[in-house]
Formats: sequence, C-alpha cells, structure tokens
Amino acid sequence: MNTVLVLNGPNLSKLGARDPKIYGGIDYSSLVDEVSKEAKLLGIDVDIRQSDDETTMIQWIHEAADGKNPVIINAAAFTHYSYAIRDALEILRSPIIEVHISNPLAREEFRHTSVISGVATGTIAGFGVDSYRLALRALLTIS
Ligand code: DQA
Repeated sequence: MNTVLVLNGPNLSKLGARDPKIYGGIDYSSLVDEVSKEAKLLGIDVDIRQSDDETTMIQWIHEAADGKNPVIINAAAFTHYSYAIRDALEILRSPIIEVHISNPLAREEFRHTSVISGVATGTIAGFGVDSYRLALRALLTIS
C-alpha cells in the first residue's frame, strides 16, 4: 500500500484543550503517537498532518491524488461546509476514509451534514482515537 496521508483539519491541534466530554482527554501529539504506533503494527506507512487552512488541506489532497495515496481525513468543521474539499477528494482514485473522534450525528444539527461523506469510501465516527485505528484496518481490508 502507498503511504497513507492522514489529514486533520482545523482545531484538531488543540485536542486536549477541547471539551474532554466530547473529544476525550487525548492531545494532538498523543493522537499522532497512537496512530503512528497502530500503523507500524499493521505495517502501513503513514504521513500524519494537521492544518487549520483550507487551501493547505486541498493542496495535500491534490498531492494524494497525484501520488495515488489512500487518505484518512478528519476534516473537522470543514466536513460540514467545504465543497472545495469535497471537490478535491472527488479527484482521488485511491480509498478515502472519513473519520471523526466524536459522533457528529449525536451532536448539534449543523454537524449532521457531511459534504464529504458522499465521495468517501466509508466513514468511521464516534470511537475517539480508535476511529483512526479502525480506518487503518479498513484500508488493509479493502486493499
Ligand atoms: C470532528 C467533529 C466536527 O464536527 C468538529 O467540527 C471537529 C471534530 C470530530 O473529530 O469529532 O472539529 O471532526
């Protein structure tokens, strides 16, 4: 499998400072460590990134399209309104797993819409950092 790009959107670098009832106590660097450990265990190369900037996220998705890299994406708030990120993801021919730490469907109504789910291979939400671990396993299953 090509290197998997694990893309994290806005405010995910502030995990740890965000509501622990929703996101758990884990901070961003621990999330990166946990996902890296799981990837190593599964024999998957990962490149884990975070940006608060939509343009940067789109450039990374283009990079994945050009490099035929599978993508695990937590687009954070962009999930709910960024047609530009959806359009970028639509270019990919490699698998896309949408992940969320929380379950957006159990939260405020504006989070019930994902504009990216329709172009993702599948979505895993509500399992904390395990959403990422399950996404890695899903990629192995479908590859
Ligand atoms: C999130 C859910 C989104 O609604 C929210 O805007 C985030 C994080 C999650 O991982 O649970 O920033 O994507």
